[in-house]
Amino acid sequence: MPTGDSAGVPAPDAPPSQGGARLAGDQPVGGPEEASLPAGDEKRRAVRQMFDTIAGRYDVLNRVNSLGMDRYWRRRCVNALDLPAGSLVLDVACGTGDLCDELVRRHIQPVGLDLSSGMLAEARRRRAGGNGERPASSGAAPLVLGDALAAPFRPASFDGAVSAFALRNVVDLGELFKELARLVRPAGRISLLDLGEPEGRLLRFGHGLWTKHAVPLVGSLFSDGDAYRYLPKSLAYLPAPERVVGLLEEAGWKAVERLLLAGGTSQVYVATRAGRPRA
Ligand SMILES: C[S@@+](CC[C@H](N)C(=O)[O-])C[C@H]1O[C@@H](n2cnc3c(N)ncnc32)[C@H](O)[C@@H]1O
Repeated sequence: MPTGDSAGVPAPDAPPSQGGARLAGDQPVGGPEEASLPAGDEKRRAVRQMFDTIAGRYDVLNRVNSLGMDRYWRRRCVNALDLPAGSLVLDVACGTGDLCDELVRRHIQPVGLDLSSGMLAEARRRRAGGNGERPASSGAAPLVLGDALAAPFRPASFDGAVSAFALRNVVDLGELFKELARLVRPAGRISLLDLGEPEGRLLRFGHGLWTKHAVPLVGSLFSDGDAYRYLPKSLAYLPAPERVVGLLEEAGWKAVERLLLAGGTSQVYVATRAGRPRA
């Protein structure tokens, strides 16, 4: 059974797969360094362990590594979701809960789901406030421990789903999109934010320097060096945009759009669930 807050969570459908589902998994694309990145069950285990390790410093390093832009990107992600106040929305791979907070600010009801108990513990700690911090705004939102590829909710439980910086971390993107199509009602929406590779040469060069050198350096000084060397490399798991759009359409999503933020250093995939809305 999923652990976590349960008030208002749609009824569980199946137990979460804690590394149980055997999936071939997406293979990273790139040079020899990327080829050594894990896939399948090994990747799931490595990702969970890594986020358990870095959870305590995750938020502050996120601000530093994105030069403070991550909050703005999450706002754009929720804007693009375009669902009315009162909608019930799954935050897939919610981590420490930043996107849940943003949804609450828009009067949308979030349910957070994540594989890492360390990240969920940090989300709960933030909600309690303390150390001079204001309690996070998503205080009442349920947080569920589980795998987004086998989420413990009934079909069509949600009006929509969002995610931030999660696409690179799941084992199989096509399976994720199918699972989201199962969970979101017909005519519901998804808005999925992740990092990207800018197209302009100069920006691409600067972005490469920042992610390959500055991010691992800051990570090793203030958190876990291995994790922050992995994070920039994990961009190699993201297929080309045409492939992502194709996978979304195959999974039952229509009107797929890709929005570029900050010159393409981050991107948002938006889509509508095919099928007639409920009467
Ligand atoms: C880079 S963090 C992003 C956290 C948060 N969404 C944010 O905006 O900061 C990626 C998160 O994905 C979670 N994750 C990775 N694979 C997952 C899966 N299969 N199911 C659920 N969560 C997963 C990790 O545990 C981690 O918390």
